[in-house]
Amino acid sequence: MPRSTWTPCPGAIHIAPSVLGADHGAFADAVRALAGSGAERIHVDVMDGVFVPNFAIGTDAVRAMRLASDLPLELHLMIVEPDRHLRTFKEAGADGITVHAEACPHLHRTLCTIRDLDCRSGAAINPSTPTEHLYEVLEVCDLALVMTIDPGFGGQQLIERTLGKVARVRAEIRRQGFDVEVEVDGGVDTETARACVDAGATVLVAGTAVFSHPDGPVAGVAAVRTAAGIE
Ligand code: DX5
Ligand code: ZN
Repeated sequence: MPRSTWTPCPGAIHIAPSVLGADHGAFADAVRALAGSGAERIHVDVMDGVFVPNFAIGTDAVRAMRLASDLPLELHLMIVEPDRHLRTFKEAGADGITVHAEACPHLHRTLCTIRDLDCRSGAAINPSTPTEHLYEVLEVCDLALVMTIDPGFGGQQLIERTLGKVARVRAEIRRQGFDVEVEVDGGVDTETARACVDAGATVLVAGTAVFSHPDGPVAGVAAVRTAAGIE
């Protein structure tokens, strides 16, 4: 099975700035600004107005970001029927594609298709979805995304109860013995980053905390890294 050449450094905690929090008129500038910031990848939120009550970021914007940055692009598809669009997003520049368990009746097949496209495969669960929905697909999963907010909008507060789910997913990955990243998304900032890491998260998505930092996104990444305890 072909796999992406992007191999995240194992054992490290990674920061993934979410461009949903950037100026939507200037995505290319936003990703350029992150060069050398300590961000390891860029998180791109795709919304269809059906799976979530909001619209965001299409293929043209993904293409523009691909041209503007060498950082891996991790797409978070908050859309129904993602299988119809996986190849399109890959061709637009995706290095990783995350789909929602709630939107995929054949999640195992969808994750295999993502890997066959030479992308890292990700499976996400909403706050109301039990962690068990991830357990049977960990062997075809490069990343497990535990949503720490109800998806659809940036700038929300982290739902503390979801951190227990992060710990359970992490424990199950260890038990099964697969190499799967655990990502948290929503309300991750200087106040909450440490608790996410302590719960077992290895990838921290941060939109508002990075792009609304008063001193700019580079300072925003640095602040979240420090808060998360990254050297
Ligand atoms: C929301 C998105 C998040 C969003 C997080 O559904 O999935 O990636 O950008 O934004 P903050 O970091 O502001 O909570
Ligand atoms: Zn996201």
